[in-house]
Amino acid sequence: MRRVAILGGTRGMGRSIARRFVERGDWVVLLGRDEDELGRSKADLEARGAPGVRVATTRCDLEHPESFRPALEAAEQLLEGIDTVVVTAGLFATQEKLEQDPVFAQKLLTVDFANTVVFCEEARKKLLLRGKGTLCVFSSVAGDRGRKPVVIYGAAKAGLSAYLEGLDHKYRSQGLVTVCVKPGFVHTGMTSGLPTPPFAGEPDDVAQAVIEAIDAGTPVVYAPAIWRAVMTAIKAMPRFVMRRAGF
Ligand SMILES: NC(=O)c1ccc[n+]([C@@H]2O[C@H](COP(=O)([O-])OP(=O)(O)OC[C@H]3O[C@@H](n4cnc5c(N)ncnc54)[C@H](OP(=O)(O)O)[C@@H]3O)[C@@H](O)[C@H]2O)c1
Repeated sequence: MRRVAILGGTRGMGRSIARRFVERGDWVVLLGRDEDELGRSKADLEARGAPGVRVATTRCDLEHPESFRPALEAAEQLLEGIDTVVVTAGLFATQEKLEQDPVFAQKLLTVDFANTVVFCEEARKKLLLRGKGTLCVFSSVAGDRGRKPVVIYGAAKAGLSAYLEGLDHKYRSQGLVTVCVKPGFVHTGMTSGLPTPPFAGEPDDVAQAVIEAIDAGTPVVYAPAIWRAVMTAIKAMPRFVMRRAGF
């Protein structure tokens, strides 16, 4: 049985992951910024949870790094220890919007990269103090290659992916397993209103793949899985081919 803290479990892929965990009997504490949303999500998880499952919530806002340590400490108390931390929280906006709104662009870069890393550093210390644990964080295929539609968002995710790879190299031998999830396009609130590209996925399918990866300790997960092959091809493309292809 896992004791899991999830930052971002109130919506989208994080919510699907939280549901899968409680359905199989894992204990979950939701970290989030909105009390009402946390309350609704807790009730949903309790209704779905296996008998004996414990569900709790605590405040944590990725825009406010001072909330990170208290939130993780509260999570530990609420579940009598945590062995798994999952981070799905993040922001997205189109490249057009980010170019027009530098204030929001700065916020997105801070939340999706700098503050996520700072949160992971707090989680890393907590998990290593226990001797072992799993840190699973959502990056994106957008971080694998600089491309026109995701210049700024992709840069934040590229930095995050690099951090997570370094973390895994440095700490796996000491007991900290890092799982970096790289979703392609998945139907959630984050992508609603955007045109659906090929190979679009659903949050429940991603959740299943992610929980299998957490259990297996797989360092990098593409979800849906086809994106591994897609990104391998895109990463291998010379720049002049990218230009001709309009990427
Ligand atoms: N959907 C895709 O196609 C896709 C593709 C590639 C990568 N990703 C990445 O996958 C992750 C999950 O995406 P999703 O589509 O499931 O997102 P989503 O449905 O928009 O859910 C985002 C979650 O992040 C939380 N959040 C946002 N800002 C926060 C803050 N300042 N503090 C705390 N929590 C905050 C939201 O909480 P509230 O309930 O408070 O709003 C919500 O629970 C993200 O990192 C995203 O960048 C998504």
